[in-house]
Amino acid sequence: MIKNLDYIDEEVYLKEKSLFFNESWILAAHKNELLNNNDFVTFEYYGNKIFIQNFNGTIKSFQNVCLHRFNTIHEEPYGNRVSSCLYHNWTYGKKGNVVGLMCRNSFERDHINELKLKEYEVAFCGDFVFLKLNEKLDKSLQQYLGNIFTPLQEISKHFGAKTIDYTIEHKVNWKLLVENVLECYHCTSVHENSFAKMGFGSVKPEKFDFFDAHSWCEFPKGEDVKPNKIIEKSLAGRTFKTQGYLHFYLYPNAFISSVEGKGFYFGFMLPESPSKTNLRVRYFSSKFEKELSESEQNIIDFINNSSNDSLDLVLNEDKKIVENIQSNLVNFKDHSPIFGDEEFRILKFYEYFNKQKNKNRYNESI
Ligand code: FES
Ligand SMILES: [Fe+2]
Repeated sequence: MIKNLDYIDEEVYLKEKSLFFNESWILAAHKNELLNNNDFVTFEYYGNKIFIQNFNGTIKSFQNVCLHRFNTIHEEPYGNRVSSCLYHNWTYGKKGNVVGLMCRNSFERDHINELKLKEYEVAFCGDFVFLKLNEKLDKSLQQYLGNIFTPLQEISKHFGAKTIDYTIEHKVNWKLLVENVLECYHCTSVHENSFAKMGFGSVKPEKFDFFDAHSWCEFPKGEDVKPNKIIEKSLAGRTFKTQGYLHFYLYPNAFISSVEGKGFYFGFMLPESPSKTNLRVRYFSSKFEKELSESEQNIIDFINNSSNDSLDLVLNEDKKIVENIQSNLVNFKDHSPIFGDEEFRILKFYEYFNKQKNKNRYNESI
């Protein structure tokens, strides 16, 4: 059973942090963000700065801190440039070694040759890029994802170009964000003018699956929603046409979703403290069977812009509620939230998560 204290307590937060690091592969990027030589993506995970980069066609991941005097190598969340530190221009190669530096002779050669950035193992599920932060974790990505691997691999192939990438700060514990996306019980009330209008939330999900704390679920669309003919026609050539709202949770910190294959959301959760979590928001266009003409592309750009606006609205509607909850929990530390049948994915998540926590407690005591 989860206690409200678990959402605010520093000690609980630190225990969860070690679980996140030691037992997990994390979904950190999509290959479409790393298509060209020197494309990179960065993020900060529990204070650890990490980058992923295309080095002449090979995708690698390293600590994002220079070994000279510890400046950050890539400052931006994404971009395209060689991995050189901007303080004194030390440049790193695909093995994480120093491949270029000014006044090389002023340093002891052997020492420089030995230097290497800390590297993180990269593995792929289709076009999704996962990282293993703990080199001792003895589990392949396939084992980690279990029966979620195949549906995730399938959806990854339908992502088009990235259209947005920004971060929203939430004054909440990370678990409140997980709970919030694992049910659509709140969709008709909180998202009355956005999600519910599109026809989601009133029909119970029929298709879903679980593996450990990971899950996916498809929420069917209500029948009384009139399709927008222009949008339907413009998106008719997309490669992925699911019927409803498809949602994946990849434990511990990634969410993938799509409304009828008309674009793809990738949420990436970065806990900062017991009561602060950053949510990185990325959205990808659909992929099409054949190349679009300029005028077709203009219409798709317009549709993508309005999808980004709707996503922003939905995220802010949720943010307001979860921040309210977080502020109330301090006065109800010994209480617990109540989860009903509609919240079955949350229950599955805690079933696994609490088991892991207890296992860790056991390991600590022996
Ligand atoms: S700190 Fe990076 S080159 Fe000096
Ligand atoms: Fe929501």
